[in-house]
Amino acid sequence: MTIVAPSILAADFTRLGEQIRDVEAAGVDWLHCDVMDGHFVPNLSFGPFIIKQVNGISDLPLDVHLMISNPEKYVDAYIDAGADYLTVHGEVIKHDTDILQEIRRKGARPGISLNPDAPIEDYFPLFAHIDLFLVMSVYAGFGGQKFIGDVLSKVRTAVEWRKKHGYKYLISIDGGINLESAPLAKAAGVDVLVAGTALYKAPDIASFVKHLKSD
Ligand code: DX5
Ligand code: ZN
Repeated sequence: MTIVAPSILAADFTRLGEQIRDVEAAGVDWLHCDVMDGHFVPNLSFGPFIIKQVNGISDLPLDVHLMISNPEKYVDAYIDAGADYLTVHGEVIKHDTDILQEIRRKGARPGISLNPDAPIEDYFPLFAHIDLFLVMSVYAGFGGQKFIGDVLSKVRTAVEWRKKHGYKYLISIDGGINLESAPLAKAAGVDVLVAGTALYKAPDIASFVKHLKSD
């Protein structure tokens, strides 16, 4: 069954605890935490201080998406804050697998993410070291953007590459996921749907989540 990971970036931060309890009650699987540094992406969001507090009020796995330059400086901070999956951008780490190995050594699951224009073939050497491949279906930096359908070919390539090499990484998709785009992503083979704006704006979050999870 598809894993659903709400992006808390779309929550109302003046009542974040309540907004997390709402999605927990709706049956979500993970919490997706979008970290933006104003450098790798133009926007700023939150850091380990908030993630630690989220971890303190929820038993759900934390899927931390680092949209930051120099992620190697912050691995300890995010793992200490409670990250279960810790994803860095391929465009930032290039072919350096050290950070992925360090994330694993320190007890979290390493992931990589790629923006829509980053060719997956350039990053194949990283795939032996990851537990999660986060396909961006919008350009990293802002919630509420429109789904870019062209990235589904990247999902299909990641499925084939995983099979060919016997890898076990999960494939996640992030950006513009709603009731129209989710079935397309699932048909292409994703295991995890990240949804922010559409999920938090849904009139009935539980039924939205049910639709996302249904096969
Ligand atoms: C974009 C973030 C996404 C985004 C998803 O930089 O990585 O997680 O917040 O939100 P929606 O569903 O609003 O596109
Ligand atoms: Zn994200």
